[in-house]
Amino acid sequence: MSDQGLTVSHLGVYYRRLEALHNINLSIQPGRLTGIIGPNGAGKSTLMKGMLGLIPLTQGTVSYQDRPLLQQLEKVAYVPQRSQIDWTYPVTVWDVVMMGRVRQTGWLKWFSAYSRRMGLEALQRVDMSAYIDRPIGELSGGQQQRVFLARSLAQDADIFLFDEPFVGVDQKTENILFSIFRELVANGKIVIVVNHDLGESITHFDDLILLNREIIAAGKRQFVLQETHLTQAYRGKVTFFNQKAA
Ligand SMILES: Nc1ncnc2c1ncn2[C@@H]1O[C@H](COP(=O)(O)OP(=O)(O)O)[C@@H](O)[C@H]1O
Ligand SMILES: [Mg+2]
Repeated sequence: MSDQGLTVSHLGVYYRRLEALHNINLSIQPGRLTGIIGPNGAGKSTLMKGMLGLIPLTQGTVSYQDRPLLQQLEKVAYVPQRSQIDWTYPVTVWDVVMMGRVRQTGWLKWFSAYSRRMGLEALQRVDMSAYIDRPIGELSGGQQQRVFLARSLAQDADIFLFDEPFVGVDQKTENILFSIFRELVANGKIVIVVNHDLGESITHFDDLILLNREIIAAGKRQFVLQETHLTQAYRGKVTFFNQKAA
């Protein structure tokens, strides 16, 4: 049977002598909002980068619809952790959004009318079209995150990966992010979000992957958020979120 999802098999990553990820096996399906949770240093960012070939895998494979993901990276939109983006880089909101169209357009080519419409629509969806000419560095954290979300939307991808998009954003941005994630999932996209916060917002996710160098639990939210799993992942270092979140 053909697999419509994203499959990670036996993925392992070492940074020199440090085993950051050990034998990760996952099957992520379209139509389900999937969160990756786990303590600081658990390997959440490493998992995303490893899936995208941004860091070398020690072992393992990642496939999408039964073909290596690395051969179809044009189907992936990735928004890295804020701390990994150079916010002093002198680009405008429009420049950032249109980076999402470069792959379809080619470097140093003019954007087509279609591409420009995609860029503008994406900015409208995140309520940032009024800021089109502003340097990205002058915006608030939430506004910057919305612009990067717009870039990923302009790319017209099948698979969306967001690394801690809620860090340092306001409530309006959080609402916009979740409503767009929901829309993407409803349209059959794969949406994976790293979210180290175990607060109320966790209830937005359908499925969770609980990580601490290896998979502690993966599957439906209610299954993953059992106290035994959380204790194992956080080793008692976290006071548990409000039980109604489960
Ligand atoms: N480029 C790197 N070189 C060496 N060690 C790294 C590098 N990136 C991350 N690490 C280490 O790998 C582990 C996992 O990091 P990371 O994937 O960033 O975790 P998370 O995103 O869950 O906080 C941590 O111990 C971190 O210090
Ligand atoms: Mg991280």
